[in-house]
Amino acid sequence: MPELGDFLYKKRIMKLYNEPEYVKTYDRRYDTIQLAKYNTILPYLNINHSGWILDVGVGTGLLLKKFINQWALIVGIDLSLSMLKVAKKRIKNYTKVELILADADHLPFKEDIFPTVTTFTLLQNMPNPLNTIKELIRVSNGVVAITVLKKKIDEISLQEILQKSGKQFSVIESESEDILAVCYIV
Ligand SMILES: C[S@@+](CC[C@H](N)C(=O)[O-])C[C@H]1O[C@@H](n2cnc3c(N)ncnc32)[C@H](O)[C@@H]1O
Repeated sequence: MPELGDFLYKKRIMKLYNEPEYVKTYDRRYDTIQLAKYNTILPYLNINHSGWILDVGVGTGLLLKKFINQWALIVGIDLSLSMLKVAKKRIKNYTKVELILADADHLPFKEDIFPTVTTFTLLQNMPNPLNTIKELIRVSNGVVAITVLKKKIDEISLQEILQKSGKQFSVIESESEDILAVCYIV
């Protein structure tokens, strides 16, 4: 049963990511930083031109620029309508992207359907990252790739969380401001 505390926490996060100034400057501030994370993770993913990828916390869709030609269908989920509006503009010429306003802890999908599930720099925003990771695992039948801001969750804490997920995650060496980890669902 979701707690009111979680709801209020997420409402605050949602407000932050709907701030017009934050949304307007996001791409300029984070384009290069996020792209480095995507490039590091990409070789670990299940690239499949006839397959699907789910990106949770898709934001303004910076990832879509990179991934648009790698999968048959890209589904992007985010809690911020303002961030999604920017993503929508970005993909206006593509039919193979679906953007959905939803909460990462309650993904509107059945079990085991996405060969690739990614989430970049979202988990530090979640009230209970373990619950979120379990939700990503629930909808995946292939690989789950996550990144989390080091300054918010250090590697030891992240390792503890990942162990509790019941799946085997490997941390990827990277100079990034995030810790990057992948898990192959078997
Ligand atoms: C730091 S941004 C990263 C955006 C994107 N992944 C990127 O690489 O540029 C974090 C994103 O997570 C979204 N977010 C925060 N809490 C969320 C939640 N509970 N469910 C879904 N998305 C959420 C925010 O709206 C924001 O777009």
